[in-house]
Amino acid sequence: MTPEQAKVKIEEFRKVLHRHNYNYYVQSEPTISDFEFDRILSELQHLEEEFPEYNDENSPTNRVGSDLSLEFESFPHRYPMLSLGNTYSKEELTEFDQRVRKVTGDDVTYFCELKYDGVAVALTYTSGKLTMALTRGDGTRGDDVTRNIRTIRSIPLQLQGTRYPGLFEIRGEVILPGEGFKKMNREREEKGEPAFANPRNAASGTIKMQNSSLVAQRPLDCLFYYIPGEQQFFDTQHESLERARLWGFKIPPYNKLAHSLEEVFEYIDHLERTRSDLPFEIDGVVIKVDSIRMQQQLGFTAKTPRWAISYKFKAEQAVTRLVSIDFQVGRTGAITPVANLEPVQLAGTTVKRASLHNADQISKLDVRIRDMVYVEKGGEIIPKIVGVTLEQRDPNNSPFQFITHCPECGTLLEKEEDEAAHYCPNTTGCPPQIKGRIEHFISRKAMDINAAEATIDLLFREGLISNTSDLYTLDYDQVVNLERFGEKSTQNLQESVKASKQVPFPRVLYALGIRYVGETVAKKLAKAFLNLDNLMAADESALEQVDEIGERIAQSVIAYFENPLNQSLIHQLKTHGLQFELTSSPFTLSNTLKGKSFVISGVFEKYSREELKALIEQHGGKNVASISSKTDFILAGENMGPSKLEKAQKLGIPILTENEFISMLT
Ligand code: IVH
Repeated sequence: MTPEQAKVKIEEFRKVLHRHNYNYYVQSEPTISDFEFDRILSELQHLEEEFPEYNDENSPTNRVGSDLSLEFESFPHRYPMLSLGNTYSKEELTEFDQRVRKVTGDDVTYFCELKYDGVAVALTYTSGKLTMALTRGDGTRGDDVTRNIRTIRSIPLQLQGTRYPGLFEIRGEVILPGEGFKKMNREREEKGEPAFANPRNAASGTIKMQNSSLVAQRPLDCLFYYIPGEQQFFDTQHESLERARLWGFKIPPYNKLAHSLEEVFEYIDHLERTRSDLPFEIDGVVIKVDSIRMQQQLGFTAKTPRWAISYKFKAEQAVTRLVSIDFQVGRTGAITPVANLEPVQLAGTTVKRASLHNADQISKLDVRIRDMVYVEKGGEIIPKIVGVTLEQRDPNNSPFQFITHCPECGTLLEKEEDEAAHYCPNTTGCPPQIKGRIEHFISRKAMDINAAEATIDLLFREGLISNTSDLYTLDYDQVVNLERFGEKSTQNLQESVKASKQVPFPRVLYALGIRYVGETVAKKLAKAFLNLDNLMAADESALEQVDEIGERIAQSVIAYFENPLNQSLIHQLKTHGLQFELTSSPFTLSNTLKGKSFVISGVFEKYSREELKALIEQHGGKNVASISSKTDFILAGENMGPSKLEKAQKLGIPILTENEFISMLT
């Protein structure tokens, strides 16, 4: 066979196999026998081996996966992967509907979908081919799991038809259908391997496996629900999914348009009754404003779209006996009581431990050892105790006394008036606090140093580290001789410690673990004060000038920097070369708009307001909320508010259309 003939054959076989894969895995309507399918596959495999020049990573032969281990690399998301606001009550849904109508007017239609309970993935298609699959990660960056995703038979590697965007992203949920989950667990038990607790854990465990040929053996599926950012292609959410279905994506048939809130409620009630008949697990439904124009009008908050909400089904409850209460000490010294329970089945998992939050919660519920308690699994992963069955209480069960001393270091606990938690004040001498701070410091959203909890534990026990700065002076000749370490892992640790010196200032600030300074607050502080010296010099009122920083955070920041031990730690970290200064953001694309401030108003055709804001910042400009004499430009869409227009004209501020703005950038 000549190479030209082989090429034709290879392409033909691929096309046939893609087609049959689709019929089998998406349509659930096989149009060929398994035998015949395998025969074509093996012919294709032979041809590909003989003519490697025609290799294509999207060939159906690659669905069997590869045996190579892979380290996951992370990449930025094209659009941040936000979460959904959620509610358990119809009253709150009514409020959501009112908020929506206020912005969009009364002519609103909702698209009701299932809330699939699996692992979110964002797939990129370039010229109709799957080119990238990322997990949610931290919402701004995700892990590249493309090779594993390719093994999922129902995911199209090559799209059907032609009328799809040249480059676009589609979001879906990787799930493990009930049948497949049961079968997989049976097989695992036969092999003496531990069973997975529930399909979601199994799916997320599988998608992060290093060996994609093992992934290929698991019956994963992927259901799609959202195409971000391609507003010009569709008018409505339901149309976008209909089109995606035509391109070969699996869109389950349970979605429904609702023309009123009553119809939304009917949908919810129907699904709450029938959810156990579905072939996969859901944890609620998602209600989306159908019109994409209205979605753009509504926009996003920092974390969630304003045009969608999820209604979660009520958590399942179980009753079991409280055996004992343990106390955990966190990195801030906060004491968390944890209940040990007689094992009980709850929503597909066996529950042995549950959270009790704090002393107030224990006394409020009046939980006593040996009581029969209600355990509930809500949105959070750890189940919690929500009540006691008083009629079953043994009169001998005495009220529970909260501990007075730290279970780890014996220090007398403290409790502030307005706080629920007890704290161990021995910040510098209490082992779990020290370890907890180091673990927080190295965590992915902080310094992203690649070391497991057990590794930190070991380094700490061996006396090699007693604070975060010790990580930068580790003696690797000693490390390599430790129990868990080898050449490779020592080198990995060394490299990742070194790489952490490039982590930008906001993350370093977050890594310090100042109480109440989470990721968002750290970003705000970094942006406002530009470097650590300025921040350390700031007094309470200067700190409170910053958006969203109140008294509580300001006082915590000041207390942290006043502590001499923290001062000396920071001094050491500085000498190790960590970034304590804001350099220009990695997302800067150009300085075209440097020094220019913009006010955005109205509704736009091509980009959402959020996207326009991001573009302004990425090109060095500034977004401001209201018009003043200092405003350089108004970026105006349709329906710009008349008072804004008047003010802009009065001040003589140039008004740009969307297109004019875009041409400024290019
Ligand atoms: S839409 C910008 N639709 O729920 C809005 N999400 O809590 C994007 N999920 O990360 C989300 N089913 O993993 C949407 N029909 C559905 C969904 C769904 C499940 C998950 C998804 C997302 C999470 C948000």
